[in-house]
Amino acid sequence: MRVIITGCAGFIGSHVAERMVAEGWRVTGIDAFTDYYAEADKRDNLRSLAAEPRFDLVEADLADAPLTSLLAGGPPIIHLAAQPGVRGSFGDGFGRYLHDNVLATQRLFEAALEAGCRRVAYASSSSVYGDAEAYPTVEGLTPRRPRSPYGVTKGMCEDLAAIYGRQGIEAVGLRYFTVYGPRQRPDMAMRRLCEAAHGGPLFQLNGDGSQSRDFTHVSDVVAATVLAATTDEPPPPLLNVGGGEEATMTEVIGILGDLSGASIPVRRIGAQRGDVIRTGADTTLLRALGWSPAVSLRDGLRSELEWVAARHGRTASAAAA
Ligand SMILES: NC(=O)c1ccc[n+]([C@@H]2O[C@H](COP(=O)([O-])OP(=O)(O)OC[C@H]3O[C@@H](n4cnc5c(N)ncnc54)[C@H](O)[C@@H]3O)[C@@H](O)[C@H]2O)c1
Repeated sequence: MRVIITGCAGFIGSHVAERMVAEGWRVTGIDAFTDYYAEADKRDNLRSLAAEPRFDLVEADLADAPLTSLLAGGPPIIHLAAQPGVRGSFGDGFGRYLHDNVLATQRLFEAALEAGCRRVAYASSSSVYGDAEAYPTVEGLTPRRPRSPYGVTKGMCEDLAAIYGRQGIEAVGLRYFTVYGPRQRPDMAMRRLCEAAHGGPLFQLNGDGSQSRDFTHVSDVVAATVLAATTDEPPPPLLNVGGGEEATMTEVIGILGDLSGASIPVRRIGAQRGDVIRTGADTTLLRALGWSPAVSLRDGLRSELEWVAARHGRTASAAAA
């Protein structure tokens, strides 16, 4: 049993790779180690997999590497590689998003078709909904109206998936809603809050704190992703993956302050381009496959805070050695 995982060195990809190896899969992980954040962090994400005989790492850019030979035998594909982040997708940064999100995804689907891969589970995003017409948002009912160029590229991935779906690939798009937990990317709000709670830089809050998100713990995202990639019957073409516990940023700051026993210093800055006011997922379709979220927001935040603390401990002891 072999599976391909793209973006395997990233936040979500490294967790998915660990889970699939633990479940007995042979994992071929593909990652270009892009410079959106430190390469050392991504290498660190793969630390526990480095000595694992069932894990192979291929360092390659999906947008230009030969892919068909990597997909020999037609294994299922979990496609998580992308240029994430809303803000950077405005202005000149957009070229990167076209390269890593659109071109990379089109090439992967083309190669998957040629290699005879049956199933491709790929990361989409709640960003495709923008400020949604209705809450909770429902796949196939709530229209896409992204507010950022990033959201547009994720919508393009969904359109590409539909095209290759009509050619026989079982493509399932996972619309992840704000994922958090250990290894969260350094640009994301909860990570910056946890760093601030450990004496890191002052937390800059975009907007007034009333914006809310349907936060999803990474272990629930892993469970949904593995399910979508491996379930026997073809899954629906789009699935919301949302943790179901919506909270405002002010509430999150309060919980983290409580858990850390620290008063987290916050500086308010203006709302950022592309930020939406609210996200909220209807997860009926995913639940029908047997999934339900298992991690509460409070427990999930504790797990991220503990991971940040342990990471600081490792860095401090490496510096002292
Ligand atoms: N983290 C979230 O809250 C969230 C929410 C919605 C959707 N998503 C999507 O989930 C996926 C994973 O996100 P993440 O937070 O783990 O991001 P991440 O940046 O930690 O991981 C993405 C990985 O993809 C790799 N990559 C980028 N372009 C590549 C290319 N052209 N070829 C090969 N590898 C490439 C990067 O080096 C990185 O390791 C992305 O598709 C992202 O858009 C994430």
